[in-house]
Amino acid sequence: MYDPSRSYDENHAEGPFPEWCFPHKVFPKLRFLEEPSFSFLGQRVHLPFGVPAGPLLNARFVQVAWAAGVSVCTYKTVRSRRYESHPHPNVTLVSSREGNRLPLHAAATPPSVVACPLTAEQVSGERPAPISISNSFGVPSQEPVKWSGDVKSLLPSQRGRCLVLSFQGTRGAQFEELVEDAKQVQQQATTALTQGGADAKADPVILEVNLSCPNEAGEPLYRNLKQCVSLLKALAAERDPEVRLIAKVGSLPSDGCDAFLAEAGEFVDAISSINTVFSEIRAESGKIVLGSGSAFGGVCGHAIFEENMCMLSRWTAARERLRLSADQLACISVGGVDSVSRFHRALEGGADHVQAATACMWNLSLPAQIAESLSVPFEVTHG
Ligand SMILES: Cc1cc2nc3c(=O)[nH]c(=O)nc-3n(C[C@H](O)[C@H](O)[C@H](O)COP(=O)(O)O)c2cc1C
Repeated sequence: MYDPSRSYDENHAEGPFPEWCFPHKVFPKLRFLEEPSFSFLGQRVHLPFGVPAGPLLNARFVQVAWAAGVSVCTYKTVRSRRYESHPHPNVTLVSSREGNRLPLHAAATPPSVVACPLTAEQVSGERPAPISISNSFGVPSQEPVKWSGDVKSLLPSQRGRCLVLSFQGTRGAQFEELVEDAKQVQQQATTALTQGGADAKADPVILEVNLSCPNEAGEPLYRNLKQCVSLLKALAAERDPEVRLIAKVGSLPSDGCDAFLAEAGEFVDAISSINTVFSEIRAESGKIVLGSGSAFGGVCGHAIFEENMCMLSRWTAARERLRLSADQLACISVGGVDSVSRFHRALEGGADHVQAATACMWNLSLPAQIAESLSVPFEVTHG
């Protein structure tokens, strides 16, 4: 879908690109043959599988992913105002520096990876090769009038398909400015999802708040429990109780997960984990390659699956210790899911729902393979 040789703005304006959808350079289309039998935060869906915030830049990308069988599509994180992307390049292929440093785990000293341009050859195989990429966009956003009109064009979603709208507050000089801004964008997002014709009773409104951007100045919010609690409490106070909220977070130690759920769990309906693994990313020569001008950014894809599994076990254990049911707090597994076997490992690890970003950027055959593995009947259509 995404052409890494073009800028983010070009991808937003002209994508998704079928010539970047492999192996056949066409967007696959599926039709499910039975009523949806899985559930995602109160909505019936065909598969417990989705795309997290990121690869689906706008409504055209969402439509392509839905048509390919992705049941839960997350619209890329929006803000209360227009926000520029980091300059190109944002996405590069990454590999281990010493040949033995993958998988990547979050650590006090960020792991170091070698970056090179991502070419079509690397992602075009019949069976997609396991790839890991850098991801350094800085969470760009259109102005609300543009993204809200675009979101409304997706409503009401069809039966068995679910839309999640991701948002985040923009930092100011003081933390209170971020809270005010997040409240504003939460309201804008709710309005977009409820005034576009969605039947709120049949189609729950589902938002996601990104607390885990690795590409902004300062520590990601989810690592500061006090600030997270005040932000999530402030958002809950302004939100219609019918509106569901997912918190997108990164890696934490076990006691950090316990503390997060004990203090902030009542303000959210689900945890989505993980975002990218914060890493040092340079060319083989040591040169900085990311357009942001920084040697640091997020890594996602194949290399971060074990970190996802580690965090999944911590979140499900914390949920159990706090005696919360999956209905009270769902666990969404994100990170490095790029095959049917990894999808099933995540389900077996206790995930209520599984999502894949990198794996769906250049190959949309995973939903069909997952449907087959779950014996969910579908047909391939050409219309
Ligand atoms: C191109 C791209 C853009 C992303 N943008 C966002 C974003 O705007 N908000 C967010 O919460 N996560 C964003 N992410 C992170 C993903 O949601 C996901 O957490 C991460 O990529 C790990 O999943 P994966 O290994 O399947 O790629 C982005 C990821 C990619 C690949």
